[in-house]
Amino acid sequence: MTQSPSKSEPIVNITEYFEQKAFQVDQWLDRLLPCESVTPSIIHQAMRYSVFAGGKRLRPILAIATGEIFGANESSLLPAACSLEMIHTYSLIHDDLPAMDNDDLRRGLPTCHVRFGEAMAILAGDALLTQAFLTLADHEALSPGTRASVISEVAHASATTRALIGGQVLDIQFEGQPVSGAQLEEIHRAKTGALIRCAVRIGAIIGGASNDELNLVTEYGEKVGLAFQVADDLLDETATSEELGKTAGKDAASQKATYTALYGIDGATQMANRLCQDAISAAKRLRCDTSILEAIARFIIERRS
Ligand code: IPE
Ligand code: IPE
Ligand code: MG
Ligand code: MG
Ligand code: MG
Repeated sequence: MTQSPSKSEPIVNITEYFEQKAFQVDQWLDRLLPCESVTPSIIHQAMRYSVFAGGKRLRPILAIATGEIFGANESSLLPAACSLEMIHTYSLIHDDLPAMDNDDLRRGLPTCHVRFGEAMAILAGDALLTQAFLTLADHEALSPGTRASVISEVAHASATTRALIGGQVLDIQFEGQPVSGAQLEEIHRAKTGALIRCAVRIGAIIGGASNDELNLVTEYGEKVGLAFQVADDLLDETATSEELGKTAGKDAASQKATYTALYGIDGATQMANRLCQDAISAAKRLRCDTSILEAIARFIIERRS
């Protein structure tokens, strides 16, 4: 007789799930990005260098996992999911620039500007952002209406108001400045949370979720999005550069506004746990099999990289 899993045991093997989905995402990214041999070769080399350096592929995987819950198929989900990874990778290339966080290690390799020079790194970021919207505009497996909704979602999440660029602006402005809990939450929701929230929303939209379902998915996305950046702040202090593939301990050195700086390691850990529980309870209210979303929420706070 097979034993039923104990309460604490995840139903889904999350490591295998991530491996399998990341493989699929990488295959599509390879298809969607210009080949290195295409002129001007250097920019395509730089784009591919950063995209294929590694990375957990969390945002595309969240979009796929959510879309599949609502019955969406691979060919409708993957190009949209990959557009998020292009935007995420652009944001990392720019985040690492000397004018921003000034990092020389990313995904276990020298950062894009260290390898290709600053000018090419700026352009590789710009190019990945552009390629993301090109991918969405050309995504013919989606109906014109769904395609327009997805483009709008991705544009809003990447923009300046409660979104990625706006969050990066605040992150820079608050360096070395006193920050309140509310301000810190605003920074984190924007710089990281918005794209993660967008990932689950576009999955649900492509899968044809109802408004009520989309609201619950959004609640889940907001909780895991914030939890993800709280965990990132924690890992900066508690993990090694080898584990992270990026330089550990940089936030304190740069006097960044982080959850660990404001609440300490214990306080930030408690907050991440709470956000994870809230995300799981939002997922459960969807009243379908959301075990994969629950496992991803746990992974987000338990990961070591
Ligand atoms: C790092 O994101 C930057 C943040 C938004 C916190 P990830 O931890 O998802 O980086 P990769 O994609 O796995 O390299
Ligand atoms: C990066 O936040 C957020 C974006 C790139 C939008 P961090 O600066 O904390 O990310 P890491 O720690 O360098 O990966
Ligand atoms: Mg940063
Ligand atoms: Mg950084
Ligand atoms: Mg960080």
